[in-house]
Amino acid sequence: MEHISIAIDGPSGAGKSTLAKALAAKLNFLYVDTGAIYRTIALYVSHREIDPGQEKEVLDLLLDIHVELRYSSDGLQHMFLNGEDVTGEIRLPEVSKYASAVSAYPGVRAFLLQMQRDLAGKGNVVMDGRDIGTVVLPDADVKIFLTASPEARARRRCAELEQRGTPEPFEQVLSEIQQRDWDDIHRETAPLRKAEDAIEVDTTSLDFNGSLRMLMKVIEENVV
Ligand code: DC
Repeated sequence: MEHISIAIDGPSGAGKSTLAKALAAKLNFLYVDTGAIYRTIALYVSHREIDPGQEKEVLDLLLDIHVELRYSSDGLQHMFLNGEDVTGEIRLPEVSKYASAVSAYPGVRAFLLQMQRDLAGKGNVVMDGRDIGTVVLPDADVKIFLTASPEARARRRCAELEQRGTPEPFEQVLSEIQQRDWDDIHRETAPLRKAEDAIEVDTTSLDFNGSLRMLMKVIEENVV
């Protein structure tokens, strides 16, 4: 039987992870957060004290990396790096910067491509990332491009960081988001862009429930 796949792409902080996770729970689909996979590679680069700007050194490291995705009984995605659960650690801001750098390398993307496709082959999925609709699952049943203004995204990221007990100044978070957008849009390999057949959903003025309702509507209208 053909599985249903829902691709959600968009810039960081647009609410992709939270919304995709909630959607997957509502639909009883598997949720795959592909950013977490890139972050896991980035964490290893940082652990090994490699400069993420050194492509060859980063690619050499891939030989030592075993990345695994496991789901806990409550359906949450956990990332394992060489057998160790790094789900919390990969969210640190420093890892975000490393992730943006290492995800620009074609070798890193190629290393992770099949893994992502295999996950979608296992069942119905909601998969979020930057290039899911354009590269990873070009035949996804529904493609959504989720956006929000940089300021709205920075406000949400600040609230999230504060909740985690690692607050950061708004201006700093905003400038990091803008820098990351620029990097993700301008990189040569799999840049962040809306697939031609993706439906754009802007959540700037929507709260969580409003965004979720909007996404459900788009999915109901497009999955036959
Ligand atoms: O969504 P996120 O912030 O967890 O993603 C971390 C980084 O990984 C971000 O800089 C973009 C990159 N990424 C990517 O290039 N392709 C994906 N499919 C997912 C994330």
